[in-house]
Amino acid sequence: MAKAAPRDADKTRPAAPTLEAARADAAGCRRCALWKRATQTVFGFGPPRAPIVFVGEQPGDVEDREGEPFVGPAGTLLRGSLAEAGLDPADVYLTNAVKHFKWREQGKRRIHERPNREEILACRFWLEQELAAIRPRLVVALGSTAASALVGSSVRVLRDRGTVVQSPLAGPVLITVHPSSILRAPDSAERRRARQAFVDDLRAIARHGLK
Ligand code: URA
Repeated sequence: MAKAAPRDADKTRPAAPTLEAARADAAGCRRCALWKRATQTVFGFGPPRAPIVFVGEQPGDVEDREGEPFVGPAGTLLRGSLAEAGLDPADVYLTNAVKHFKWREQGKRRIHERPNREEILACRFWLEQELAAIRPRLVVALGSTAASALVGSSVRVLRDRGTVVQSPLAGPVLITVHPSSILRAPDSAERRRARQAFVDDLRAIARHGLK
């Protein structure tokens, strides 16, 4: 089977832009249809030279309204876990693989829907711009959408969690679960266990000397 060309040879890969220029361009993004039902583009947030970039799936309902990633329940869990793992928020930039909220209506509620492959691929343009501008030492993939955007479909989150894999797009990528999966645990004992396993994964950042 022919080998895929390395991403560095990809002419569509953007030259390093500034984060602010990328943010301004992304505000008017029409690369897929998700913008039509979303309130706004939710671009990444954090220090422009952060050594660690966390990539989630897509903004949720709260993030869509507020325009900032990880400010809802999953974000609260993530921030608490970062603190427990000894990570300084000043070292962390938070973003998502997809930058518009995808949802369906259920009564009065907006229910999260997983982005599809085309939407993830379309939005990778912005993730590449963020990574090219920030040049982090480590990227953390939160869940399977982020892992497949960064590394490809060979990653299995439950099999590979806590390990660092190489991504042609992002360099070293630590694989772990999405914080929302912890919130969905069936009871509080399972939730505590899942949260502890997540914090242990994050502690690998210090173990790998990447903090
Ligand atoms: N889930 C995500 O993946 N990202 C957010 O910003 C919020 C919830």
